[in-house]
Amino acid sequence: MNEVSICVIGSGYVGLVAAVCFAEIGHRVICVDNDEAKVNLLRNGGVPIYERHLPELLKKHSGKGVEFTTDLGGAVRECEAVFIAVGTPQGDSGAADLSFVEAVVSEIAREISGYKVIVEKSTVPVYTNEWIRRVLNRLGVPTARFDVASNPEFLREGSAVEDFLHPDRIVVGAGTDRAAEVLRRIYAPLSEGTYYSRPDALPGMCSADKPAKLLVTSAQSAEIIKHASNAFLALKISFINAVSNLAESVEADIEDIAAGIGMDRRIGPRFLHAGLGYGGSCFPKDVAAFHWVAHQQGLNFQLLEEVRRINDAQREVFFNKVRSALWTLRGKKLAALGLAFKCDTDDIRESPALAVIRQLLDAGAQVQAYDPAAMERAKGVLPPSDKMSYAANPYEAAENADAVLILTEWGEFARLDLPRLNRLLKFPIVIDGRNLYRPQTMAEHGFTYVSMGRPANYEAQLGKPRKTL
Ligand code: UGA
Repeated sequence: MNEVSICVIGSGYVGLVAAVCFAEIGHRVICVDNDEAKVNLLRNGGVPIYERHLPELLKKHSGKGVEFTTDLGGAVRECEAVFIAVGTPQGDSGAADLSFVEAVVSEIAREISGYKVIVEKSTVPVYTNEWIRRVLNRLGVPTARFDVASNPEFLREGSAVEDFLHPDRIVVGAGTDRAAEVLRRIYAPLSEGTYYSRPDALPGMCSADKPAKLLVTSAQSAEIIKHASNAFLALKISFINAVSNLAESVEADIEDIAAGIGMDRRIGPRFLHAGLGYGGSCFPKDVAAFHWVAHQQGLNFQLLEEVRRINDAQREVFFNKVRSALWTLRGKKLAALGLAFKCDTDDIRESPALAVIRQLLDAGAQVQAYDPAAMERAKGVLPPSDKMSYAANPYEAAENADAVLILTEWGEFARLDLPRLNRLLKFPIVIDGRNLYRPQTMAEHGFTYVSMGRPANYEAQLGKPRKTL
């Protein structure tokens, strides 16, 4: 086994998962963060993010294969490959703000004495690679001492560890054979499949017979692959949402339509779930950044603007459904199931659920929210108000509420005890922004069920009212 000494700068979702997974596949890793409290937490066995398999892997490797430190200089000096995994937030113009990347590159420059491969793992616009190279040169680092490569990640929050160890592909954008060789060595346990034959390997879709695919490209192509992948997935979601609105207006069913479209292998069934639209720290930011990249090149990639517009409009579509199901909102008590931007994460960044809740509060409604993981984070950002409260479970949230709103696609919300829910509610109304139920099932349980892109079954309620409206 060809062990490589790796430094990962940044211990956010990407950096931390990459650091721990590099250790898992046999490398020696130093993970650097300038947040001392976070480094101490990690050193003491704490897990700062909600991510499946991360606690076990941290326990297995922390202090052994992976160490945590605030000392960037020391880490860079000791390692052959330096991965930059710091944040690239969205700036005012839509462009990614690269100031964290630049600050890290300046620090790295001071420490380079022997050959290093500097690898950008953060999502960055095309040519960032080139900029890093220029900045290092300007800071006096001779060209022979380093290469810059791009190695974008395609991790989904919630399944990031599995995505890392069992990837659809590994993309390496390297301008020199020397840099490509270092990255090939780093990923060899996955691309040659040796990791998958280990008895302690995390199971997943790759195997020794079907190892991970590694694609080597130019740095610019790798940078574009990352932006284009996220933009395409966002487009797929906006497309199905646009079709969903059409389906609804002609009383067709978007779930049947998505199944029918998805059976075409050229399209595939994934990322065709209509609903409240996408959120999170990646799609909104990357669609805007990719649009900006095209604009910088004098191209009008208007399709991306439309993707964003359709996505924003979905929240409005949902809000209008709530209003038409309940008539007025002032003083209405609503159970909001879901706060995270998607299931299996505590991340609330750009969460459609929070956007809807804010709108409901502004309209004078009272919201009782529940989320299996994101309540603490949501409390930190939603305005404190006597109209906003948090429940210990979905049933407590639903108690005496005028309606239940499903805002995030948690598995737990797809398996609710429907008779119990019905008994607890003031009115048996469920407005589902994630299409977790079949309208037929909800009608059988006596609910008025409103979902996305499917005919609403107000008749169920009108036919046999439980309580007088
Ligand atoms: C996304 C990509 O899927 C990853 O490949 C990528 O590495 C990551 O961004 C990143 O750039 O770091 P993530 O933001 O974790 O990952 O979330 P997804 O699972 O892709 O979901 C994004 C949003 O789309 C969620 O709000 C989800 O609810 C929504 N979504 C997803 C739909 O509305 N419909 C779908 O069919 C699928």
